[in-house]
Amino acid sequence: MNGEYATPDFVIRAAKAADITGLSASLGAVHGVYYRRRLPLQAAGKGTILLAERGVAPVAAVFVTWMPALEREVRRELSGVPLLYHMEVTAVVRRQGIGERLLSAARTLLSRAGHRRMALGVDLDNTGAIRLYERLGFRRWNHQPLGVGIAAYDMMVLDIVGARTTAPPRHIGYAA
Ligand SMILES: CC(C)(COP(=O)(O)OP(=O)(O)OC[C@H]1O[C@@H](n2cnc3c(N)ncnc32)[C@H](O)[C@@H]1OP(=O)(O)O)[C@@H](O)C(=O)NCCC(=O)NCCS
Repeated sequence: MNGEYATPDFVIRAAKAADITGLSASLGAVHGVYYRRRLPLQAAGKGTILLAERGVAPVAAVFVTWMPALEREVRRELSGVPLLYHMEVTAVVRRQGIGERLLSAARTLLSRAGHRRMALGVDLDNTGAIRLYERLGFRRWNHQPLGVGIAAYDMMVLDIVGARTTAPPRHIGYAA
């Protein structure tokens, strides 16, 4: 993805290697390491690290990929469905609509690539994130949660076509 989504507040675009230091500073070193390790996959065309930045400061990111899932159940039940991993918004700017805009950008990116669904895994106890996903039209899959105990997580799926989201009209620019 070469284009970018601009709003009066921030820009969402594909991350570059030079962004990782800023991402580490705003989200934490562990997250910086995660996204740095996704750069070769992005370079190989296997996914996109979507980055939201306010001014010159990165404030959020998510990895969008069309690689097969690691989990056998997900490969079987959601075959060919792109997956979102590791969505993270800087703590001090949460609940300002950045997560929603990132998801909307992912939806637009995937829609333009011809995909009709997208999915993500969410910890069962992450009720805030689940509330956001459900509000945007994601539904829990009709299968057992994965993982065990406190590491249990569910898959949530969004039908890209006809998805409920308010974000696209607020994009003021996109350049492919
Ligand atoms: C989950 C996360 C990505 C959401 O990003 P965000 O920018 O805060 O989300 P938005 O501002 O677009 O949406 C906010 C809405 O999501 C829901 N929500 C998000 N966090 C919430 C929380 N802690 N408690 C309750 N509701 C929450 C609410 O519906 C909220 O709307 P409201 O503020 O009007 O009640 C962000 O909180 C985050 O980075 N969390 C830590 C990492 C994480 O859990 N990632 C998700 C992995 S699946």
